Amino acid sequence: MDTELDSFAVLILAAGRGARMHSGKPKVLQSLLEEPVVYYPLKAVQDAGLKNVSAVVGHGGGQVETYLKREWPHVGAIWQGEQLGTAHAVMAARQWWEGFEHVMVVSGDVPLIQAGTLSDLAGKHLRAAPKCSFISFLLDDPSGYGRVVRLADGGVRIIEDRDAIEEELEIHEINSGVYIFDTESLSVVIEKISRDNTLGEYKITDAVALIGETEGDVNIVVSDDRSELLGVNTPNDLAVTAEILNRRIISGHMRNGLKCMDPRTTWIGPRVSLEPDVFVEPGVQIWGKSSIASGARIGAYSLLRNVTVGPGAVLFGPSVVSDSDIGGGAEVGPFAVLRGEAVVSDSAKVGRFVEVKKSRIGVGAKVPHLSYIGDATIGEETNIGAGTITCNYNGKNKSKTAIGDRCFVGSDTMFVAPVSMGDDAHTAAGSVVTKDVPPGALAISRARQDNIANWSARVKIDGKEKKDDEGN
Ligand code: UD1
Ligand code: CA
Repeated sequence: MDTELDSFAVLILAAGRGARMHSGKPKVLQSLLEEPVVYYPLKAVQDAGLKNVSAVVGHGGGQVETYLKREWPHVGAIWQGEQLGTAHAVMAARQWWEGFEHVMVVSGDVPLIQAGTLSDLAGKHLRAAPKCSFISFLLDDPSGYGRVVRLADGGVRIIEDRDAIEEELEIHEINSGVYIFDTESLSVVIEKISRDNTLGEYKITDAVALIGETEGDVNIVVSDDRSELLGVNTPNDLAVTAEILNRRIISGHMRNGLKCMDPRTTWIGPRVSLEPDVFVEPGVQIWGKSSIASGARIGAYSLLRNVTVGPGAVLFGPSVVSDSDIGGGAEVGPFAVLRGEAVVSDSAKVGRFVEVKKSRIGVGAKVPHLSYIGDATIGEETNIGAGTITCNYNGKNKSKTAIGDRCFVGSDTMFVAPVSMGDDAHTAAGSVVTKDVPPGALAISRARQDNIANWSARVKIDGKEKKDDEGN
């Protein structure tokens, strides 16, 4: 199959403005489970084994091109200067697709399309060898979509909602926006497409009718999944497709062993990987390129983004973890915040109301309560007392704190960075540490305590006398 699929060019149409989104961001970059809309058709195309892929960019094209370069380096960007319609977009890429036997055209705004559907379409196209194939589907509410008008002579026309007459509007079979064209036939008919319609656009849908009239067969593949080809044109469409995608993703993970207490309130992005037997409590969100190992438990209302979680780790919710790694058997939260490449090593513990930024907590080390650890390393088996702060910022620069192995840091220690503490050292509670602490030493840095005798009795008498003065 590989070599056959090499005869396909795949053109993703991603130049449109998406006016109905009411957004400065192009439609194909709108966020859907924290990935751009266009991520999904690109992924389906990739999973279908189709390798020659380009995207037509235009509106906000710089942003789209930047995204493609970063995440899909093999996908070329072809510019459509002015957006005069879908056929105009296909025309912009003509030089490129003319080098292939077939061109598959996929709208950048159909995120629910699945790889199997694309390879099925390609397979059918190769077997039946028509000049054009496209996918249609049946919708209860077809409004907004192009209707598939099957003509008495066996021909077919696609008519847009806004151009349709009343009886055409009754048609529930709609055009998905996914087509395969024989490139020679498309080259011939694309020249003939006019912009004589309501919006004055060049429409790729007209190529379908023209091919049927002059070039040869058009094969319609009717999809039986009503949701797979929903287009994303409005904020409401984003919400509807997000829910469907999320459900699909969670079901997939559950088939592989995910225990999800409440799939309705759990959100998992498409690039998240879960080993079997992860347990997820209600209200959890896991985004980006995150991966969670077997036996881990993610507590209620936690938010994870670009995170790795090791085997058997427990995250008590709610906690917020981004761009960070949690080791095997570690315990984090509740109410912990880890960010900016924080590393919680195996069997370490980061507890309640602790924030860790760009720091490494060593194997078996504990930061159980109310601390800020920033730009620091904490050695193995070290215990950090409640309320400890690394003072990493002097208003201008960020500086580092290095704490050794097996240290005991007293509660409410302030480490004024840059500063370090050797292995097996201690600090006394309430110390402000401004000088390096040698290994094995105890650092005490606080005012000595004075006890003033009879203080409370004096305070009470003063109070009473005052009241008496006021005549009470
Ligand atoms: C299109 C189809 C419609 C189909 C529907 C399925 C046409 C004329 N109509 O309608 O029959 O039912 O998709 O979702 O094709 N684009 C460009 N350049 C342009 C215009 C659009 O790249 O000049 C891109 C858009 O970014 C989008 C795609 O083409 O990704 C489709 O355009 P859109 O305006 O969303 O078409 P629909 O009205 O949804
Ligand atoms: Ca659309």
